[in-house]
Amino acid sequence: MGGKVTVVGAGFYGSTTALRLAEYDLFDTVVLTDILEGKSEGLALDMNQSRSIEGFETKIVGATTTPEGAGYEATANSDVVVITAGLPRKPGMSRMDLIGVNAGIVRGVAENIAKHSPNAVIIVVSNPLDEMTALAQIATKFPKNRVMGQAGMLDTARFTNFVAEKLGVKVAAVKTLTLGSHGDTMVPVPSRCTVNGKPLSELLSQEEIAELVDRTRNGGAEVVALLKTGSAYYAPSAAAARMAKAVIEDSGAVMPVCAWVDGEYGISGVYLGVEAEIGRTGVKKVVEGTLTDSEVAALKEAAEAVRAKQADVQTL
Ligand code: 2OP
Repeated sequence: MGGKVTVVGAGFYGSTTALRLAEYDLFDTVVLTDILEGKSEGLALDMNQSRSIEGFETKIVGATTTPEGAGYEATANSDVVVITAGLPRKPGMSRMDLIGVNAGIVRGVAENIAKHSPNAVIIVVSNPLDEMTALAQIATKFPKNRVMGQAGMLDTARFTNFVAEKLGVKVAAVKTLTLGSHGDTMVPVPSRCTVNGKPLSELLSQEEIAELVDRTRNGGAEVVALLKTGSAYYAPSAAAARMAKAVIEDSGAVMPVCAWVDGEYGISGVYLGVEAEIGRTGVKKVVEGTLTDSEVAALKEAAEAVRAKQADVQTL
């Protein structure tokens, strides 16, 4: 297929994303960058040496970058850029606790990326997610459709896994959906959840669904508490890589992502977790699904919560 994707940040999230993207064997080049000298070059070398075993031709290029912009030439003219830069949570921290430190990092990265890849689609995964997505759009000055965040794919995948485990069914039999923020105002949408086509509410009690919803909302923190250092990356990287794939393939796949909302559900002017058609231009269209009144109310509440924080990032 061809094309170039850059993954900024060679921590566990970034490096796993880079490898997943390379193993798709879709792109000509995957560029992995980091500010730690030699880290991304070393990881790229190692990944390239796996190509003959795994059977993919995509070339992985590692590049050391500086906050001032050195090294970003390697990322030039990327079609897609996944921004993972920033610190992960420590046990007991909320994603919002990262806003001050990660805002500086994401702003710098976004400006450098915009300089070298003016036509890229940006996928942000740094936390707090909804705010960092808004900030990346401000810093790149890209059209809002070309900047989106990864969260709903991950939260939905967590919800699906919990439902499948609870009912002892295949994950492929389960369809779930989460919207809203990637935080306290995450909005799992039970009315859109089915198992082999049957509504979830016919298979589990309200209390059981509420428990799974709660576990989904705290899904990231549960992993952080167990790892003690660092946060989740296998499911997060799977989600980010699928979004990048949908972009380069111009697939029009409908995915829950953090996208700019402009009138849908009666909500405007905010980056929020919604379903959207993803393609070569980023978010081709926000898809307004059928929700219950209480789910729409929860989505509006989430929108107001993230709107206030997104206004703050302008000055960070
Ligand atoms: C998570 O939920 C990293 O925010 C991400 O695990």
